[in-house]
Amino acid sequence: MAPTVATPPKADSPPALAIGRYRVDPAVVLAPMAGITNVAFRTLCREFGSPTSLYVCEMITARAVVERDPKTMEMITFGPDEHPRSLQLYSVDPVNMRAAVELIAGEGLADHIDMNFGCPKSTH
Ligand SMILES: Cc1cc2nc3c(=O)[nH]c(=O)nc-3n(C[C@H](O)[C@H](O)[C@H](O)COP(=O)(O)O)c2cc1C
Repeated sequence: MAPTVATPPKADSPPALAIGRYRVDPAVVLAPMAGITNVAFRTLCREFGSPTSLYVCEMITARAVVERDPKTMEMITFGPDEHPRSLQLYSVDPVNMRAAVELIAGEGLADHIDMNFGCPKSTH
């Protein structure tokens, strides 16, 4: 007799998330993690997760993009199966943030940009 395999209980899926022209379904996002969500980690997560979820890259400093720092330009490369390509830009300077977004959008280096303006100053 064939062994019986227990079926895991079905979890309620969160509703899809619409970000511009992209539909993140289910609405599960791999949070950006500096030093962790590199192309290899994202590829593994996508392999075991949903192909239509969002997998955000490591935090990228806007100024380093504007200056085309070679290590940073390497960090913003995506794998061939990564779509949409989600990039997190960090800056507290709106001029650098704008210039980096223009460079990335103008050269088609990513499909989605997550902006990180840092944590607000504590008043304590
Ligand atoms: C190791 C590590 C690195 C992180 N790096 C970033 C980062 O680069 N940018 C960012 O916005 N948040 C960063 N975070 C915060 C996460 O994106 C996330 O917001 C946080 O872990 C809260 O999510 P959780 O409650 O699921 O842990 C980092 C968190 C961890 C643990």
